[in-house]
Amino acid sequence: MRIALFASGNGSNFEAIVQANQQGRLHHAKICLLFCDRKNAGVHERAKRLGIKVVCFSPKEFPSKEEYEQMILNHLAEESVEFIVLAGYMRMIGETLLDVYEGKMINIHPSLLPAFPGLHGIDDAFAAGVSETGVTIHYIDRGMDTGPIIRQESVPIYKHDTLATLEERIHALEHQMYPQVLQTIIDQREDLA
Ligand code: GRF
Repeated sequence: MRIALFASGNGSNFEAIVQANQQGRLHHAKICLLFCDRKNAGVHERAKRLGIKVVCFSPKEFPSKEEYEQMILNHLAEESVEFIVLAGYMRMIGETLLDVYEGKMINIHPSLLPAFPGLHGIDDAFAAGVSETGVTIHYIDRGMDTGPIIRQESVPIYKHDTLATLEERIHALEHQMYPQVLQTIIDQREDLA
């Protein structure tokens, strides 16, 4: 399956998926490109080190979101991308991308959705004082963190946790879960083909 990863920031999930692929733990996946909407994002250094092609531009460079997403589509078409994996891509997906990739685009979110959607899933769960949170992988739809859920795993919040220790456990789980879920999707799609 030909895959594009989208990221806006640090890129640790991007790296976990690429490493799984390069180390032979993620099969039948070709990571064709990274799309990043921010020039200074940490993920650039990771992509360079891992030898992944990067396409980078921001919506500000376009008159409309449609034209921005159309340019993304052009790059995806050039690489015959079949599936999109969002890994810390900090924008809502618009109609232009959804028209082509709905059902073929997944996201990872650091909470047990529908609890704590939005940009600060870990902080919000920690501040709320709940006893568990987790990680959700879901398909993308028109809402913010609302699409059909593929897999969820929970993470306990201990009394002695700080935000930092909780973040560390959640990210470790993300890095383990995302390549595994992607493999399951690839295997299912190969069976259907
Ligand atoms: C992750 O916590 C992910 O769940 C959320 O954004 C964060 C991205 O982290 N969507 P990274 O850039 O992959 O390190």
